[in-house]
Amino acid sequence: MLSLGWIAITYLLGSIPFGLFVAKACCGVDPRLDGSRNTGATNVARLCGFKYGVMALVLDVAKGFLPVLGAAAFSQSSLFLGLVALAAVCGHVWSVFLHGKGGKAVATTVGVFLALAPWCTVIAALLLIAVVMASGFVSLGSLTLVTAMPVLLLLSGEPTLAIFAAIIAVIVFWRHRENIQRLARGEEKSWKKKA
Ligand code: G3P
Repeated sequence: MLSLGWIAITYLLGSIPFGLFVAKACCGVDPRLDGSRNTGATNVARLCGFKYGVMALVLDVAKGFLPVLGAAAFSQSSLFLGLVALAAVCGHVWSVFLHGKGGKAVATTVGVFLALAPWCTVIAALLLIAVVMASGFVSLGSLTLVTAMPVLLLLSGEPTLAIFAAIIAVIVFWRHRENIQRLARGEEKSWKKKA
């Protein structure tokens, strides 16, 4: 019962659209209506400035990190911890507060795996940074991060968590389908050149 309750609470926490709150409160913009129309940190930074993007990023990471860290304090079950991680990501993507809509879940994915496998997450985050620096595309960096996570978890002897990371990667890829199409057409916005 406690486990199911924790999964439900994690889903609710994951549903909180921090990026939307930050953008509306700090710069009076609805990120669902402008830029990439995503509520995530990248679009908040694009529309409101770097500082507010970082604020949205930290909050979206925290809403994944904290409930998973809490779960790990009372359970060692990889299956349960994987379900809690998945609940946070599902909350962000299909938010109960946004009528089933939501974001692309990259920051929340970083948060959940930072709690479960910090070194794997740091390596995946470094890969993200390297790809973004080299290409200018945050979306390409995000896709690299979620692709690397299951591989790194498998290599570090966490097969169950690797399966959950792979499920999360499929969700994140699906949420990036428009970015992928823009990348393929050469129309994705780069941080390296002004729009
Ligand atoms: O984390 C989201 C990022 O990968 C892409 O964001 O706003 O460029 O679609 P955006």
